[in-house]
Amino acid sequence: MCAGSHLANRELYTAFIRIFSALRIVAPKNPTDAPVLDALECNRHKTSLTTEPKEFKVGVRVRDRGRLEGWMGGSERRAGGL
Ligand code: HEM
Repeated sequence: MCAGSHLANRELYTAFIRIFSALRIVAPKNPTDAPVLDALECNRHKTSLTTEPKEFKVGVRVRDRGRLEGWMGGSERRAGGL
């Protein structure tokens, strides 16, 4: 069993919340770059136990540049000296 699973869970929660709060994920410009959305067909290795998605692209758009720059500036102030 993973000794860090609870920490990992909280870290991933925080990371995803930050990404989705700051950015809007949009479809790729070229439709052939879109992710495969079928749970079996998306897997690069058909026989693997875990999923490693085939390569795909997405676009990212900043939701609110002023707030994003504020959040990033706050992080730099808190962690810049580390
Ligand atoms: C997304 C993040 C993580 C994933 C996907 C992950 C996944 C795993 C997996 C699959 C195992 C093997 C479990 C088994 O043998 O049944 C494992 C073991 C372990 N993980 Fe993680 N882990 C993550 C984060 C962390 C973190 C953040 C820490 C520590 C801060 C950590 C510490 C450990 C330790 C010490 C073991 C060995 C436990 C043992 O064999 O007694 N892991 N992890």
